[in-house]
Amino acid sequence: MTFDRKTLLVPVGDDDGLRAAASMLRSGELVIFPTETVYGLGASALDARAAYDVFEAKGRPHDNPLIVHIAYPEDAEKIAYTTKLYRRLSDAFMPGPITIILKKREIIPDEVTAGGNTVGIRCPVHPTAHRFIELSGVPIAAPSANLSGKPSPTRFSHCTDDMMGRVSAIIDGGECDVGVESTVVLLTGEDSLKILRPGGVSRDELLTICHEVTFAEGLSEGEIPLSPGMKYKHYAPESPLVLLDGEAQKVKAYVKDRLSFGERCLFICYDEDVSDFPGCGISIGGKDDVKSHARRLFAALREADEIGGKMRVDVIYSYAPQRCVEGLSPAIYNRLIRAANHTIRRV
Ligand code: TXA
Ligand code: MG
Repeated sequence: MTFDRKTLLVPVGDDDGLRAAASMLRSGELVIFPTETVYGLGASALDARAAYDVFEAKGRPHDNPLIVHIAYPEDAEKIAYTTKLYRRLSDAFMPGPITIILKKREIIPDEVTAGGNTVGIRCPVHPTAHRFIELSGVPIAAPSANLSGKPSPTRFSHCTDDMMGRVSAIIDGGECDVGVESTVVLLTGEDSLKILRPGGVSRDELLTICHEVTFAEGLSEGEIPLSPGMKYKHYAPESPLVLLDGEAQKVKAYVKDRLSFGERCLFICYDEDVSDFPGCGISIGGKDDVKSHARRLFAALREADEIGGKMRVDVIYSYAPQRCVEGLSPAIYNRLIRAANHTIRRV
C-alpha cells in the first residue's frame, strides 16, 4: 500500500462532500469520519481487503480487531447475534459512546475481527457519523484514526497531521465532545458484563441497566488480554510523560523546582495553574471539570509533542489521575497511565 493518495477534505456541513466520501467508502476506500468520542478510520466492514488496508494505513498490529459502526442499534442483528442484554443496553445507551461485543455472523470477514468469532458493535450519536454511516449503506469498521501508538485524534487537524495521503477522504466534524473512546463491554451473563475498556459510558450508568458490572483485570505481562488493544503501548507522546502523585501544591512546587534547575519540561495542568507556568503549562480545563479533562486530554498530549519537538523538551509532567470508579475517571486514568508507560513519581 502506498501512502501518496489524494485525500479529499470534507468541510463541516458539506453534504455533497459527505456523499462523495460515502461512495468512496462503499467502493472499498478508507475514509476518516468524526464521532462523539474520537475520529474513526473507516472501511466497509463487509470488505476484507478494505479492512486489511485499515491496519496498513494505521500501522496497527493485525491481531487487534476493529469495531463496527452502525446507524441504528437494530442493524446489529444483520452482522451479529444479539441478546436480551444487548437490547436493554442499546435501548439505554445507543446511540452513544459504548461498544458491545457480540458473537459475529458469517458476513463479517476475519480481517475485521482479527480472526476472532466476536465483533464489537458501536452506534455513534454524532450527527455527521450517523449521516455518513447511513449514506454509506454498509456497516463501517473503524479504529481510532491515529497512527498506531499515538494519541487518538479528537480534532480534524489531528487527522490531517497523521493521515494525509494514507486515506481517500477526511470529514471534518469539529472537536469531539467526549474526547476519550467508547466503553467496550463484554456480556458475561444474562445480567452481568465486564468493562474491557473504560470510556464515555460510566460504570454507574451501566449499573442502572445491568446488575453486575466488573472491570477487566489490569493486564500484567504475558496475560492474554480480553481486549487485544489494551496490551499495546498507547497514546504516547514523543517525550516521556511522568505522572506526579501527591497534593496539588506539592506537584506544582516539584515542577517549579525542576524548572528552576533548568529542566526543559511541559506541565499538563488546569486552568487555575497556567498563569504560574508561563510557556510550559498546557491546560485541560478547570480543576474539577472532569468532562473537560476527558475532552482535552489527547489534544494536550499532541500539543505537548508539538511544543516539545520545537523546544526539545526533556519531559512532560502531569498530575497523576484519580484512581476512582466514578464517571469518566477510569477512562482518564486508563489513558494517562498508558501514555506515561506506567511512570508515576510520588512527590
Ligand atoms: O470510541 C471508539 O470506540 C472509537 C471510535 C472511532 O468509535 N474507536 C476505537 O477503536 O477506539 P479502536 O480500534 O482504537 O479501539 C477498540 C478497542 C481495542 O482495544 C480493541 O482491541 C477492542 O476495542 N476490541 C475490538 N473488537 C473486539 C472484540 N471482538 N473483542 C474484544 N475487544 C475488542
Ligand atoms: Mg485506538
